[in-house]
Amino acid sequence: MSNIGSYDDRLKDFSWSIAENELGYKPGDTINIGWYCTDRICQLGKADKTALIWEGRDEATTRKYTFNDLRILSNTFGSFLSSLGINNGDRVCLFMDKAPELYIGFLGILKIGAVAQPLFSAFGDESLFVRLENAGTKAVITSRKHAPKVQKILDKLPNLEHIIVVDDEGKKALKPKEIAFSLDQATPVENFEVYPTTAESHSLLHYTSGTTGQPKGVKHVHSSLISQYLTTKWVLDLQEDDIYWCTADPGWVTGTSYGIIGPWSLGVTQCVKDSGFSAEVWYRFIEKHKISMWYSAPTAIRSLMKAGNEVVKQFDLTSLRHLASVGEPLNAEAVVWSERIIGKPFHDTYWQTETGSMMITNFPGMKIRPGSMGKAFPGLTPALLDPDTFEPITEISKPGLIAFRYDWPARMRTYWNNQQTFDKKFKNGWYITGDRSTIDKDGYFWFIGRDDDVINTGGHLISPFEVESALLEHEAVAESAVVSKPDEINMEVVKAFVTLKPGFDPSQELELEIMNFIRKKLSPFAMPQEIEYMDLLPKTRSGKIMRRVLHAKEWGEEIGDISTLEND
Ligand code: WT7
Repeated sequence: MSNIGSYDDRLKDFSWSIAENELGYKPGDTINIGWYCTDRICQLGKADKTALIWEGRDEATTRKYTFNDLRILSNTFGSFLSSLGINNGDRVCLFMDKAPELYIGFLGILKIGAVAQPLFSAFGDESLFVRLENAGTKAVITSRKHAPKVQKILDKLPNLEHIIVVDDEGKKALKPKEIAFSLDQATPVENFEVYPTTAESHSLLHYTSGTTGQPKGVKHVHSSLISQYLTTKWVLDLQEDDIYWCTADPGWVTGTSYGIIGPWSLGVTQCVKDSGFSAEVWYRFIEKHKISMWYSAPTAIRSLMKAGNEVVKQFDLTSLRHLASVGEPLNAEAVVWSERIIGKPFHDTYWQTETGSMMITNFPGMKIRPGSMGKAFPGLTPALLDPDTFEPITEISKPGLIAFRYDWPARMRTYWNNQQTFDKKFKNGWYITGDRSTIDKDGYFWFIGRDDDVINTGGHLISPFEVESALLEHEAVAESAVVSKPDEINMEVVKAFVTLKPGFDPSQELELEIMNFIRKKLSPFAMPQEIEYMDLLPKTRSGKIMRRVLHAKEWGEEIGDISTLEND
């Protein structure tokens, strides 16, 4: 029997108080995610239950932590942060690979009432800089490997007081503002007074990209737990004896909402693998740890499909009970493939950094329509809006903008220092996701696409504006336009069109140099997979570059009205 039981029944009797009661929380009480994920689970009698099984890049290196270990170590981390003068409300960035310290540091930050700002460790110094500057970050928790990128931008960050290096035990290589902290060597803090955060206390700052301007900091609060707890329970269907694996990095919202908060607030054991993708490594990980619930992403699933069915047969994957996916469109073929080859279908889930928790999902027990995102979570009021009037569309299967009434616990509270952009997300009292979809006669949502120019490459949102700005910093580039192009595995990848400055000639060597320049400055995902040299970029008469024309060319679509084009 699944946790949700019948979806239709839950629609009828739904109230968020179901989650509040199970969590023993009453509106007005203190609520601290760090405490809920550790101390409370120990109080429920599960102190000795395994919370985390961590495996390094080298498969022989594993570490296990019980909920009591997590409780004590997050106390220890939290009191160290307090001793540095970090207080409630201060932003503390986590910038490292998926080491245990990342997970424990996250909980420690929340326990002192500070704000966790996880950033993906593959970010280059420019990507890191804009996010640390915007957040006015006070401390960065990092590792020896990634600390040099922080050092590089330190002079431009007056608010940054501490760089905490978690693996420099000999304190040999410390640079300005760096301080070594080792969880293994610190005196364990048994008892700790968790900061009394309440429902609206700021918990997390996740950065996400839009079409224009710099990345936006999405402000989340401690009561997001209520949504995250219940969606984990009902959609991921986590049960007492499950061994759970969320493949997402906590640099992205999936890795915190469902890679930390969801499973641990339910007291469930989870596995973490600190490595990139390889079909053999992933299947072996499932077999070795007997993973029963697996939450992953379409790009990974497509890569597994590409690796072939022979590889699957070499492993025993019968421990798998339930599979789910998020981040980008999950093609029907991937659902059918997983059911046929792995024996279970992936259940698509749809949500956003801004929503903080799942919105549209395929529930356990519900009939999957491959290619559909499923139905709205109980308690939500969804609609498809007409893009001109922003009124709900009532016609079946007519495309519209996915929108929700803004009333679930995990919704973002604002964009950090950017209330104006936040306000623009609303029309007629609806929160506009920026995605387009249809709804069929039975209430299933079918994703069509984004309503903006943001590129979703392998589940990572990339702003064309950010890549274009970075390209202009290369000495050879005069102008640039960035769009997506189709890709078999990542669905979309970044493609750049550039014109060169006088004195520079197009060459393959220069193409590679520019690609590398972006990879180092921004990230591997933002790196264009192809650079096309042009003499002129298509522009409107007012001088605006028309990405639309270049996009249509890449996707073999009709270009549409180009009457405002200057150089056609
Ligand atoms: C955007 C949000 C939420 C976790 C990771 C992404 C796209 C997300 C799906 C899906 C089609 C999807 C949307 C959305 N997206 N899930 N199941 N099917 N598209 O969070 O980085 O904020 O990206 O990802 O375009 O708006 P994010």
